[in-house]
Amino acid sequence: MGTQTEALTTTYKEVKHTFTAATADDSARLTFNMGQSDVDVSLDNIGVFEGTECGNFAAAPLAGTPPVALAESGLIGNLADGKTQYDAKCAGCHGVAGAGATGPAINTNKVVFSKNNTQYSFEGYVAEFMPKSAPGTCSGQCAADVAAYVKAGFNIPNKDTCSAGTGVICEDFEGAALNDRWTSVGTTELTTEEKLSGTKALKISGAGSAYNANGLNLDLSKFTSLTKNHYGRLMLKTPVITGDAGDFTFIEASGPANLLATTRLTDSNRAIYRARVNGSAVSLMANYDTSPYGAPLTDCWSHSNFVPVPKDTWACFEWRFDATTNTLTYWLNGTKLGMSVKDKAIGSGAVAGCAGHPLDDIWSGPSSFDKLHIGIDQYHATSKPRTLYVDDVVVDTERVNCPN
Ligand code: HEC
Repeated sequence: MGTQTEALTTTYKEVKHTFTAATADDSARLTFNMGQSDVDVSLDNIGVFEGTECGNFAAAPLAGTPPVALAESGLIGNLADGKTQYDAKCAGCHGVAGAGATGPAINTNKVVFSKNNTQYSFEGYVAEFMPKSAPGTCSGQCAADVAAYVKAGFNIPNKDTCSAGTGVICEDFEGAALNDRWTSVGTTELTTEEKLSGTKALKISGAGSAYNANGLNLDLSKFTSLTKNHYGRLMLKTPVITGDAGDFTFIEASGPANLLATTRLTDSNRAIYRARVNGSAVSLMANYDTSPYGAPLTDCWSHSNFVPVPKDTWACFEWRFDATTNTLTYWLNGTKLGMSVKDKAIGSGAVAGCAGHPLDDIWSGPSSFDKLHIGIDQYHATSKPRTLYVDDVVVDTERVNCPN
């Protein structure tokens, strides 16, 4: 309990008093004794707060008082600065990962987002009321930075992995240089000419005429969870080209041929799954090849009933390559394409077929994938120069899906 005496002046003065009352004590009360005063006294903003520290009026609006809306500042939070600020100014009371200490847990959606959606923005709340020990010392950019960091789950996502939890490999092409996990072949560049997210995308240029390969290679053997079966997603945009610009491959994964598929294969054969653009119909197609050619080995294709390639607009292309079940599956903007194939299920004729039948038209996956290639690989002497923009590539053990 305890008594506190204050000398009053002619201006308002803030007075705090802490007392403890047993839970069962229903006679506990707070009284203001003005008996010693011979002038008028005004009391304002009286609050009683639970806990060991004084509360904050605006943070605890009185019943019936409309909540104060605390707006976002519009500043863009920087995650690294947010972590520095948070660790210095907040972690002591809320814990390094927000699980709570003397201050409440703030790592829950309830805190971060419900206030955001209703009366408070997280950022506005912090700017105004936090740190509890020194309100106002993390406003403006500090509040925006801390809010970004907390909303990112107390993580600074590694740019190489796009953001926490987005795939085994995630590439947004935002770095100053290409991530060194990729090897560039032919003509590629990071460009600001086009982008789906951020400020950059990868630009790939095919020179046309005879055979040329351009794009990025990835050593898949370094990603053991992806070598037997993986899913991928890339966003692509290809400018309109009139006439037959020739076929080209834009996704390809390969590895040593599975020798069990047929005794006609040798150690040096590679099995290759491809997603291609058919130049004459400007449609999508799937291919299965074994190389080296010349034997001749296999060159099989399946058109997806000539699904057109989206032109001059960003499209979402997903694939699944499964070496265990010899299955290729493709999706365009979330819809599964008929050119998804397994083994001999390709039929024949214009829609699907093989050049020669040396491997009995078996679409056999490799024993494991060790290479992924995205780009423009042109084949025909009549090919025209063309450009492809690629952004936000994800490769994972589960289906990636398209951005919202
Ligand atoms: C001295 C301890 C202390 C420090 C430092 C501190 N807080 Fe707090 N914080 C509290 C307490 C205690 C509360 C509970 C509300 C109250 O008492 O005002 C709180 C409440 C919050 C809430 C609302 C939680 C809820 O459940 O609604 C958020 C969000 C928050 N703090 C964020 C921060 C951030 C971000 C920082 C650093 C800029 C920070 N706090 C620094 C003690 C602290």
